Amino acid sequence: MLSMTPAFWYSPTRFSKKFVLPSSEMCSMKSNGFSEPYTWWWRENMSTVHIIPSAAMSDKKCVFVTGGAGYIGSHCCVELLNAGYDVIAIDNFANSRHTDSGEAPSLKRVEEITGKKLTFYQCDLLDINRVDEIFSKHHIDYVIHFAAIKAVGESMQFPLKYYKNNVIGTINLVEVMKEHNVYQMVFSSSCCVYGDPEHLPITEDHPTGNVTNVYGRTKYLIEEMLKDLTHAEPRWNIISLRYFNPVGAHPSGRIGEDPTKNFSNLMPYIAQVALGNKPHVEVFGGDYNTPDGTGVRDYIHIMDLASGHVAALSRLSQEHFRYKTYNLGTGEGVSVKQLAAMFERVTGRPVPCAIRPRRAGDIVSMFANATLAREELGWTAKRTLEDMCRDMWRWQTQNPRGYQDDCDSPATNGALPASKLANGAGLTNGATNGATNGVSTANGVSNGANGH
Ligand code: NAD
Ligand code: UD1
Repeated sequence: MLSMTPAFWYSPTRFSKKFVLPSSEMCSMKSNGFSEPYTWWWRENMSTVHIIPSAAMSDKKCVFVTGGAGYIGSHCCVELLNAGYDVIAIDNFANSRHTDSGEAPSLKRVEEITGKKLTFYQCDLLDINRVDEIFSKHHIDYVIHFAAIKAVGESMQFPLKYYKNNVIGTINLVEVMKEHNVYQMVFSSSCCVYGDPEHLPITEDHPTGNVTNVYGRTKYLIEEMLKDLTHAEPRWNIISLRYFNPVGAHPSGRIGEDPTKNFSNLMPYIAQVALGNKPHVEVFGGDYNTPDGTGVRDYIHIMDLASGHVAALSRLSQEHFRYKTYNLGTGEGVSVKQLAAMFERVTGRPVPCAIRPRRAGDIVSMFANATLAREELGWTAKRTLEDMCRDMWRWQTQNPRGYQDDCDSPATNGALPASKLANGAGLTNGATNGATNGVSTANGVSNGANGH
């Protein structure tokens, strides 16, 4: 066995496990027949010692992104890379596309957009050993935890699946973080933790927990768990970001939303109407106590949401507050009819609306007070409703099959004409949405069911 002398500590807070060799010793390792992987490791006195090449030493901070191949995760990776972070992303492809070789087409396109590389691993958070193994290979400074399953209807049908994936997945993550002395995290929460609003706009101190669906309850439970954890163990520094309604796509038109599960949200449905694949928007309720009688939400451009995460990381690095929550929204309520009208104006395509009965469990009106994020994160949403519609439309029209073209093997590529897959055949809406979700093939070829 080679005898190694630690030359300097890799990180002052992590010296118990990691050290770096000077380049002279790395050279001697190479001349001893070692190839040059990124990380060398071996066992010594029953504890794993990681030898990291000096090249890995840099001032760049490294962010571990769970659920990185998904809608919000992929857009956030663009902002992280542009902000100068190194990114290690994982995903189990429960709701995102992958190639036969286990790559994430969304993240390949992220690299193309930014001109920067990231590291991706196919990994399930429920596989704690694999998560631990990945943490062992990298020096991680922050975690952004997007990975979750989120179909509301399905969560009511299969509650244990949701509690297991979302809650146990988070427990595994936090345990591994602790094991590796990583204590800084941004967690993807949702405005749904507020339940039916008692006042509008919603501030962060609005009561939480009165949530009517299992998906939302997993978010609430995780928030409570993280609060307890940071209370008990002072080293933690965690921000929960409560997203309002993210829509749109990266302005390049190269990345956007392309889930493997059916979805039921308004904006993708409106896009299908504009494409001519649906005759009209089914508006759930026209007699609410809102200016035009239709439901009101706070739609936020996905790139604004993404930049909110970079702002949150910056805040984590500046102050140790243990636990904080922030709303990420624009602060403006937009009705179903207003969104449809804007989409019509931006695309020049008709978007007729037909009033239907109210959707069971729907909230009438929900929009954020985003002042706290402005004051403490220095963040505000900059993009307009018009930007949201225009960027969504660009993604939709430039990628009628979503990421499918990147997933097909050369033999099957192009076998199905885009027109066949762009018919929105599986796009569902209404109160039963999500109840039949969860069907995806091993290689993600069940696409088109989402309307792309
Ligand atoms: P998404 O489904 O597009 O992305 C989530 C990703 O996590 C998917 O790629 C999925 O494959 C992955 N994943 C799920 N379980 C995993 C596991 N056990 N291990 C590894 N990967 C796993 O969803 P999104 O819209 O990007 O949402 C990201 C996060 O934001 C989620 O936590 C979601 O609950 C939350 N959120 C989303 C919205 C929204 O409207 N999109 C609103 C509020 C909160
Ligand atoms: C959904 C999710 C919620 C998530 C939130 C943010 C459900 C039940 N809830 O809620 O968990 O946190 O997105 O992304 O899926 N509408 C129509 N016709 C349609 C679709 C929607 O009129 O075909 C209306 C709804 O009644 C609502 C508005 O459009 O007033 C927005 O609906 P949707 O996009 O589903 O978002 P949320 O209801 O906010």
